[in-house]
Amino acid sequence: MNTIGTLLRLTLFGSSHGPGVGCVLDGVPAGLEIDEDDIQREVDLRRPAMSIGTPRAEADQVKVLAGVRDGFTTGAPVVVFIENRDTDSSKYERFRTVPRPGHADLTALNRYGETVDLRGGGQFSGRMTAPVVAAGAIAKVMLSTIGVQIAAYTQRLGRLVDEEERYLKEVRRASRENPVRAADPGLALEMVNEIMAAKEEGDSVGGAIRCLAVGLPMGVGEPFFDSLEGELAKMLFSIPGVKGVEFGSGFRSAEMRGSEHNDQFIVEDGEVRTITNHAGGILGGLSNGMPIDLRVAIKPTASISREQKSVDLERMEDTTIKVEGRHDPCIVPRAVIVVEAATALVLADMCLRGDFIAREHR
Ligand SMILES: Cc1cc2nc3c(=O)[nH]c(=O)nc-3n(C[C@H](O)[C@H](O)[C@H](O)COP(=O)(O)O)c2cc1C
Repeated sequence: MNTIGTLLRLTLFGSSHGPGVGCVLDGVPAGLEIDEDDIQREVDLRRPAMSIGTPRAEADQVKVLAGVRDGFTTGAPVVVFIENRDTDSSKYERFRTVPRPGHADLTALNRYGETVDLRGGGQFSGRMTAPVVAAGAIAKVMLSTIGVQIAAYTQRLGRLVDEEERYLKEVRRASRENPVRAADPGLALEMVNEIMAAKEEGDSVGGAIRCLAVGLPMGVGEPFFDSLEGELAKMLFSIPGVKGVEFGSGFRSAEMRGSEHNDQFIVEDGEVRTITNHAGGILGGLSNGMPIDLRVAIKPTASISREQKSVDLERMEDTTIKVEGRHDPCIVPRAVIVVEAATALVLADMCLRGDFIAREHR
């Protein structure tokens, strides 16, 4: 389905090479101050950077069609539309017969049949995340009313890993200043080279994004099944190319002893805090007042110009494929702002559900 959320409901529409992509965001309280330039700035962060070998794409122009009047939300659904421009569908027809390994061509054809729109990846394109970023910008405004802030950065790119502990403010500033959205400018240069090296070999590279959210009060989440982890994971796994989501020490928890993994409690400034944050800010499916700390693994881009094996579906025989056209040699930098937006949308929805954000402006 193309709708997610309970009280803050996001519906996506459109496809990569149709007239455009957009969203309807229902449940946004009335009276929120929205600067449309802020939404545009967030969407611009999703734009591919020339310096990492991605062909220039025209900037996406965000149009807010409804739900905001004179800079304030009206309480009606916020409708955002982003026109598709500069599309070249000619290279995609072939994928109906020879599907790209690692992409959704084969599964989509099987599921939806011949009328499926595979141009530009159709509904499976990373382009569908542009309206997610626009909606996320509004969710961030909702969260800011209760002091919640979110920032993400590229923590791993191929073999390069940022091992440093990082804080939200530095992440927010630094990651917006380099094309790979890294928190460390030195490492950013190495990451750029890693992407260029993969591209030169007709290949692609994956990585991991870490996202932090601070200021979330204790108790956000709706266990059993709508635990905060569960809701975040569902949203994050909806982002094309995401192959893993972990919270706090995640899979490393399996190697630890309880004495190591337990986040021991202390009183700090009159509040209960924990010394460490192996839980990633979530206990029992509820936020525990510590920063939400999550990581998302992104696979290397499927569409590569190196020759790979595929099948000719008409002849039902083996063949090979080289994918030409405009493809990112690495999705990770562009997905950073998408992960921030996805996290914001879930946290805003869960805050509405738990009455941490008022549903109506009074
Ligand atoms: C921002 C963004 C940009 C993407 N760009 C590309 C691309 O240029 N080429 C490509 O093959 N996949 C790209 N993807 C990933 C595919 O959409 C995705 O791998 C495909 O739909 C299959 O889904 P899955 O990887 O989740 O199984 C992108 C994803 C995102 C989030």
